[in-house]
Amino acid sequence: MKTMRICASFCALALAIAGCGDDDDTTLVPDGGAADASTDATTMVDAGAPAEHLAQTDLYSNFAARTINPALIEYIPAHALWSDGALKRRWMSLPAGAKIDTSDMNHWRFPIGTRFYKEFAAPGGNGIYETRLIEVTGVDEFRMVSFVWNAAQTDAMATPDGALNVNGSQHDAPSSADCRTCHRGEPGRILGFSAMQLSSPGMGGSSLLSTLTAQNKLSNAPASSAGYPVPGNATESAAIGYLHANCGHCHNPDTPVYNQTQMVLRYDITATTVATTNVYTTAVGQALMSASYTSNPAHAAETRITPGNHMLSAIWVRMNARGNNDQMPPQPFTELPDDAATGGGLAKVAAWIDSLTP
Ligand code: HEC
Ligand code: HEC
Repeated sequence: MKTMRICASFCALALAIAGCGDDDDTTLVPDGGAADASTDATTMVDAGAPAEHLAQTDLYSNFAARTINPALIEYIPAHALWSDGALKRRWMSLPAGAKIDTSDMNHWRFPIGTRFYKEFAAPGGNGIYETRLIEVTGVDEFRMVSFVWNAAQTDAMATPDGALNVNGSQHDAPSSADCRTCHRGEPGRILGFSAMQLSSPGMGGSSLLSTLTAQNKLSNAPASSAGYPVPGNATESAAIGYLHANCGHCHNPDTPVYNQTQMVLRYDITATTVATTNVYTTAVGQALMSASYTSNPAHAAETRITPGNHMLSAIWVRMNARGNNDQMPPQPFTELPDDAATGGGLAKVAAWIDSLTP
């Protein structure tokens, strides 16, 4: 019965998302995996047709030499999603002269033609697994697909069905339907390139938010040059930022998950103190809604966050669970959301909870 429960909730989520029909992430892609593998990777597609090979996109200025297009913006979000130990790089391609719509500073929208790329590589220079693309193809229309690299690293092909154990590794590339499960949690679909995520000192020393403002790439400038970092001391901001990046794309009012929990782990930039963040107001000292979880006597004493005790806090206990219906993120995700990309998510969340006064 327990297995049924999680499937009921997770699958209902996936179905609810798939049923929305407001955006179109898969139909732009030719039938999954059916493209002719012998196609010359350097052949450019017709104008407007979706790229089937990564070499046909604007990520590289020289694909054979693996030279990244210098017109692209490389960035690192302040708080990253777990990645099963893979190394990640991210780039953004903004159409020339276009601006990001920041009129709602809390939810950025990107002009048609914008592309985001995220690369997942094996540690130790042992090859790229996949490069993910989100392209804004129309008004509220997006293409989301993974380009999976071959073992020889000579080509990466759009793979809308996803791929398990890429090139014999433990790394799985998600399907285009899977992309939507998470990216649907933000109206503009982009999760890690936001006012908060770009407010920390970035790759060049100053924050990318300041750089984009100076380059006149934002429709509305930030209220102050300090930007919108997560509030609190180092312990507090690390945990709240972690929960935003790893849980907030499902746990926010724009998703079907909200109806089941009314718990919000997404950080809204309007909160400038810890006590006014969504996670604080909807989780600290709050009773659980998930009756099937608390009906297990082992969890009866838990609240969402029990100040001073992470072992009695469902947020931490469910992050730390794997292979059962308790685990968060829910199945089918397999690894603990705790790898190097997150800087140790479990420890960050435990430290914050334990620092709260009971
Ligand atoms: C488990 C949830 C999840 C799934 C599944 C997922 N993503 Fe993401 N993705 C995120 C989060 C969270 C970020 C931002 C944090 C980061 O980059 O570490 C992100 C970042 C990205 C970025 C950089 C732009 C941005 O939104 O920040 C791209 C491109 C991307 N994902 C593409 C994809 C594609 C394509 C798929 C499916 C093949 C996919 N993702 C599946 C959660 C997910
Ligand atoms: C892919 C979407 C998704 C992601 C990502 C996700 N969750 Fe959930 N979460 C759900 C769903 C659906 C439920 C309701 C069903 C259940 O309780 O299993 C839920 C329920 C919960 C609950 C129970 C709330 C209550 O009141 O009973 C907690 C606690 C929780 N999640 C914590 C987390 C944490 C912490 C993370 C990040 C590490 C996370 N979730 C990431 C989908 C998600």
